[in-house]
Amino acid sequence: GDNINDIIDHKLFSEEDIHEMCVRLGKQLTEDYAGKKPLVVGALKGAIYFLTDLTRQMDVAHQLDFLDVSSYGDGFESTGKIKVVTDLAADVKDRDVLIIEDIVDTGLTLKFMKDLIKGRGAKSVKCCAMLNKEARRNVDVDVDYYGSKVGNEFVVGYGLDFLNMYRNLPYVGVLKPEVIQKYVNK
Ligand code: PRP
Ligand code: MN
Ligand code: MG
Repeated sequence: GDNINDIIDHKLFSEEDIHEMCVRLGKQLTEDYAGKKPLVVGALKGAIYFLTDLTRQMDVAHQLDFLDVSSYGDGFESTGKIKVVTDLAADVKDRDVLIIEDIVDTGLTLKFMKDLIKGRGAKSVKCCAMLNKEARRNVDVDVDYYGSKVGNEFVVGYGLDFLNMYRNLPYVGVLKPEVIQKYVNK
């Protein structure tokens, strides 16, 4: 059916789990970015749910901006080709930039964003991701802060999508294999 819970096999991170990640990471970032007035960059679209909860746990004066560098399109596998869909509004020169991500998978998206921002003269560029799918890493890129490691499962919710849907699920769940199969066999 069309109900979001029908496509979930099991819950992986509950709302409480995610809240705890935000509290822990928020404290760490509060210490590490004290006095730096960082530019917090949300990677559209997946990062928005994590960003709003995480930044409210950061007792640090900062500014917000967004960068859309989608590579997966509407699909479920990276095309490997990354392009800027919507660029930052801010000038990052001499700024401490903190990229927020929902997940780092192959690392291609994060590496592209870090290289882009470093190339524009940022003072520092770090990333805080909710999830780190380390086993899938294809390129050498640091995930400076993350909430949890995650295995090679198709996760949706809390920003993570399948075909650009189901981001609004308040927890992170594993997609039922048959939901993926339906599209793979097309
Ligand atoms: C997803 C996710 C990360 C990226 C991770 O974004 O939100 O940004 O892929 O994959 P990678 O490490 O293999 O590059 P996507 O491109 O699907 O756009 P979205 O955030 O709009 O869903
Ligand atoms: Mn993304
Ligand atoms: Mg996506």
